[in-house]
Amino acid sequence: MATMRVLSAADIQKVFTITDALEAVEEAYRQKAEGAGVAWPMVYEAFEEGVSDMDIRSGRLAASGVFGLKLTAWFSENPAKGMPEIFGTTLICDDTTGAPLALLNASAITGLRTGAAAALGIKWLARKDASRLLVAGAGHMSTFMVAASLVACPSITHVEVWDPKRADAPVERVEQMRETVAALLAAAGVDRAFELVAVGDGEQAAGAADAIVTITPATAPIIKRDWVRPGTHVSCVGADMPGKQELESALVAAARLYVDDRAQSVASGELEVPVSEGAISPEDIVAELGEVIAGKAAGRTSDDEITVFDTSGIAVQDLASSKIAYGRALEAGLGTVTEL
Ligand SMILES: NC(=O)c1ccc[n+]([C@@H]2O[C@H](COP(=O)([O-])OP(=O)(O)OC[C@H]3O[C@@H](n4cnc5c(N)ncnc54)[C@H](O)[C@@H]3O)[C@@H](O)[C@H]2O)c1
Repeated sequence: MATMRVLSAADIQKVFTITDALEAVEEAYRQKAEGAGVAWPMVYEAFEEGVSDMDIRSGRLAASGVFGLKLTAWFSENPAKGMPEIFGTTLICDDTTGAPLALLNASAITGLRTGAAAALGIKWLARKDASRLLVAGAGHMSTFMVAASLVACPSITHVEVWDPKRADAPVERVEQMRETVAALLAAAGVDRAFELVAVGDGEQAAGAADAIVTITPATAPIIKRDWVRPGTHVSCVGADMPGKQELESALVAAARLYVDDRAQSVASGELEVPVSEGAISPEDIVAELGEVIAGKAAGRTSDDEITVFDTSGIAVQDLASSKIAYGRALEAGLGTVTEL
């Protein structure tokens, strides 16, 4: 007989913060580099091309005592039915017995763990004096990119947000983001001064930035090679499926390249298109970020290099985050316990 805890988004939001996500993802990357964590190949199925699909990202974090999976289902016609477009569900199991431990609403964790990944790219690879961040993309995920970067990188004081799909600056959206970012920081007990402004000229903003995060579903480059000055770091996050691309291949070819998972980055991340075009080869990847965190590979080696970190999203981020949320929920008596 086994029991399992079911955790809603509301349960998770009470116990899991942006600071927790940063610690979880850094630890997950480290375990992956040290052989205690593994991301198994993603399973992807399109039910109807461009209309509905699902992916399963799975893996194991032995040092955290869990294995499991996150299933994300996208049904674009759902909003017309009054339902969310995306459902995300994470299952974590005990690594010593196989027993299911918890089923979690993944949406409460995905934004935080994805922002954490982008921010860890900046923390470990940007110049230490990086103060100007450009976030390219002003949708749901962009808020988490800003909040996590502010927490992980104390040198960042000025953040610009650009929406490549709009000709004007996304002023109203950035006002909403300011409130949500402040709430995310407050929930984590972080008191942090920052400027957050909307911009309409991506080229100019990219040229002035020390760090850039790209977070769009673009299938053609939104950041060009010539826009980016020496010494800039770019964390690219939006490309998580074959065919997506945010950086011009020439920019990828000019950069010192880091990824969250070598195989996935080439199969379905930002490096897929540049590799298929012959602009780079998989051997050009310097390291997985976890190898830098674990001290097994070098990060930036000069203030003039352009560095790129591609995070296409791996299960160990979700497993480490879910394990923390589950442990806290257990202590607080949150969630619904069910016998299987
Ligand atoms: N790597 C990961 O771990 C991970 C995790 C979650 C989401 N994602 C990806 O991040 C991306 C953004 O997610 P979101 O929830 O913020 O999306 P969203 O739809 O809420 O926002 C998308 C933003 O990009 C802009 N945009 C839309 N189409 C564009 C295009 N063709 N070119 C340039 N800009 C465009 C929109 O105007 C908006 O500002 C998606 O591709 C999503 O799949 C990646």
